[in-house]
Amino acid sequence: MAKIIGGLTTSHIPAVGNAIAREQQNDPYWKPFFDGYPPIHAWLDKHKPDVAINIYNDHGLALFLDQMPTFAIGAAHEYINEDEGWGIPVLPPFKGDAPLSWHIIESMVDDEFDITSCQEMPVDHGFTVPMQLFWPGLGKHPNFPRAIPISANTVQHPIPTLKRALDFGKALGRAIRSYPDDIKVVILGTGGMSHQLDGERAGFINKEFDLMCMEKIVTDPESLTKISRRELVRQAGAQGTEFLMWMMMRGALGDKVNPIHQNYHIPISNTGAGTMMLECID
Ligand code: DHB
Ligand code: FE
Repeated sequence: MAKIIGGLTTSHIPAVGNAIAREQQNDPYWKPFFDGYPPIHAWLDKHKPDVAINIYNDHGLALFLDQMPTFAIGAAHEYINEDEGWGIPVLPPFKGDAPLSWHIIESMVDDEFDITSCQEMPVDHGFTVPMQLFWPGLGKHPNFPRAIPISANTVQHPIPTLKRALDFGKALGRAIRSYPDDIKVVILGTGGMSHQLDGERAGFINKEFDLMCMEKIVTDPESLTKISRRELVRQAGAQGTEFLMWMMMRGALGDKVNPIHQNYHIPISNTGAGTMMLECID
């Protein structure tokens, strides 16, 4: 049977993609951010997951305001990347796992989650930057996994509640664990933490709130479901709603997790950048 071995979180800021392309990882501005990743590389090299479920929020490349699914799951054999206008190099296609995608979609619809299945789903920086951060070199990396994109709406209100996000993750976990193949799966929750890119509060970051979320996502994710969507925007900024991706990831991991590693750095671009590695306890 498939096994979920752990969860990873990271911000997905486009400027990070440019820093990677320009090999600026050791520049003073970038070093404290990139220093958060080598312990995770070591863990991934040891455990070698076959599949990465990449939970992110599409920012308008695959899905736009005219048709905005609350939860969309990729069901393709591969996922292309396209130019979004950030100046990041376009990356080669990512290999999918369509049989696992369809198993997850079937299981989740049985579990009463109404999923939009996407047989075409171009992936944006929310998906690609984390793949580069965790598997430097991408296709040239010896253990580069197959990937399945899952996008939730954090753009057009009403967005899902934090409780719905955690419950989605629990159903996703049940779906993966019922897949008959003996594969190892890692779950990525990309985005966050606090940031607001436009409007009166542009540049808003809330370190205290971010650190509270990093603690509670390990020890008591249920307590975070009491935060309303309005309160989340107030505390984390308009784009801090990307914390929903962390809740979806966390729900899939089960009750108890072992926090192996974490890093928090502000600001990177306009964002509070949190990186975490949570290992599942069998
Ligand atoms: C930034 C952060 C994001 O989450 C994003 O999608 C785009 C830009 C930023 O901080 O620059
Ligand atoms: Fe984003």
